[in-house]
Amino acid sequence: MVSSWRRTSSLSAAATVVAAAAALLVSVAFAVPPATPATPAAAAVGATPSVPAGPLDIAQLGAKGDGKSDSTPFILQAWKNATIVIPPGNYLTGALLLEGPCTSDIIIRLDGNLLGTGDLNAYKTNNWIEVQHVNNFAINGHGIIDGQGPLVWSQNQCNKNYNCKILPNSLVIDFSTNVTVRGITLLNSKFFHLNLFNCKNVLIEKVNITAPGNSPNTDGIHFGDSTNITISSTTIATGDDCISVGPGSKMIRVNGVRCGPGHGISDEKDVEDIIITNCTLKGTTNGLRIKSYEDSKSQLKATKFLYDGVTMDNVSYPIIIDQKYCPNNICSRSGTSKVAVTDIVFKNIVGTSATPEAVTLNCANNLPCQGVQLHNVDLKYAGIGNTTIAVCKNVAGKTSNVAKELACL
Ligand SMILES: *[C@@H]1O[C@H](CO)[C@@H](O)[C@H](O)[C@H]1NC(C)=O
Ligand SMILES: *[C@@H]1O[C@H](CO)[C@@H](O)[C@H](O)[C@H]1NC(C)=O
Ligand SMILES: *[C@@H]1O[C@H](CO)[C@@H](O)[C@H](O)[C@H]1NC(C)=O
Ligand SMILES: *[C@@H]1O[C@H](CO)[C@@H](O)[C@H](O)[C@H]1NC(C)=O
Ligand SMILES: *[C@@H]1O[C@H](CO)[C@@H](O)[C@H](O)[C@H]1NC(C)=O
Ligand SMILES: *[C@@H]1O[C@H](CO)[C@@H](O)[C@H](O)[C@H]1NC(C)=O
Ligand SMILES: *[C@@H]1O[C@H](CO)[C@@H](O)[C@H](O)[C@H]1NC(C)=O
Repeated sequence: MVSSWRRTSSLSAAATVVAAAAALLVSVAFAVPPATPATPAAAAVGATPSVPAGPLDIAQLGAKGDGKSDSTPFILQAWKNATIVIPPGNYLTGALLLEGPCTSDIIIRLDGNLLGTGDLNAYKTNNWIEVQHVNNFAINGHGIIDGQGPLVWSQNQCNKNYNCKILPNSLVIDFSTNVTVRGITLLNSKFFHLNLFNCKNVLIEKVNITAPGNSPNTDGIHFGDSTNITISSTTIATGDDCISVGPGSKMIRVNGVRCGPGHGISDEKDVEDIIITNCTLKGTTNGLRIKSYEDSKSQLKATKFLYDGVTMDNVSYPIIIDQKYCPNNICSRSGTSKVAVTDIVFKNIVGTSATPEAVTLNCANNLPCQGVQLHNVDLKYAGIGNTTIAVCKNVAGKTSNVAKELACL
């Protein structure tokens, strides 16, 4: 929730005040060609530190998977070798800044688990594992990136203090093209689990992101200023947004994602061309949400969104466009908006709503939402003794095959 009004990138440790954007939450399956992983056994055998650009097993370099010894230097030493193997075991580390450019493709084969130390002094920036300027990068395997958030969540003051200290994000990838994140689990991040900034051609597949529903600011996947991101067959259950699409995002494809618990969000610049298909949301606060802040500073747009085939299971606000978003009155209430919301299609959205207000389209009178379409939307109230309704303001578009209580367009 709190993170809805402040987003970080590796560039700015400082909090950025929001403006506009789009958010979503989402469930389920698909297959795309992965970056080829080395088999762990084959990769480990015969690798020696003296062989550059070969598979390097951090245990062979001396790392101990005992959950206690510091493995940071061994991972930094192995970095830039074509394949880095984290073998089974629990490797405790501090900040890992993994910088390119690299002369070859890089694969991190995660068979074991990485544990982020609870000692916050070990993080110079607000990131734990940060990969920068690396093209053709993959991290895959069945290991866990465990942020050990329970050790520090009590130090998160972001619900009380606007200028709070931001805890480290778990896996941050910046300024990189052709990135694959596949098979791994991201567990209990201190802040966001996976944060992408200024990336192109990213595939996130069969990833599992898990943190308790009440953990603070543990967003699943956040990205901004990025193009061509595909998220498929991924399960996200966290304390904050499952997926939040930040400013400057284009060509976003989400298919087969299961989300819940969780929420939805974003910031400045345009968000465009988003397709979300075949997803399931369970018990989330918001379902499919596009929101912009009432006092956003610049002229922005959120356009060309298609949500097709989404099942809601007891979601509080399944469909919501809010051009006048202003949580806890942190913004000035002008009643106007600078964010144009156009060409948004909700199709085949079925299931149940935890509140009667299944459809909320709350747009500003100075800039009505245009081209909003509801097709085959069937949302029933999950409770008893009421029915679902639509609450709509300043919105134009059309509906088909929608019960008349929800067909406000
Ligand atoms: C939709 O998701 C289900 C469940 O994960 C999967 O079995 C199915 O293949 C997906 N369909 C498409 C068209 O992606
Ligand atoms: C590969 O690993 C070796 C041994 O740790 C290291 O000296 C070298 O710098 C690494 N990188 C490359 C590109 O070889
Ligand atoms: C990304 O992958 C494509 C297709 O494999 C390749 O043509 C392109 O050169 C890659 N981009 C970079 C920056 O390496
Ligand atoms: C988008 O990224 C995928 C990898 O996820 C790549 O295969 C595809 O070629 C990219 N598409 C474009 C138009 O660059
Ligand atoms: C995701 O990971 C958590 C923690 O390891 C595990 O409890 C859960 O079963 C996993 N979920 C899926 C769908 O793999
Ligand atoms: C739906 O969610 C609400 C809270 O959001 C909860 O009180 C209620 O028990 C849930 N209903 C079902 C049927 O799970
Ligand atoms: C049904 O829900 C609407 C909208 O939340 C509310 O105003 C109304 O009081 C509810 N009706 C009953 C009978 O609970």
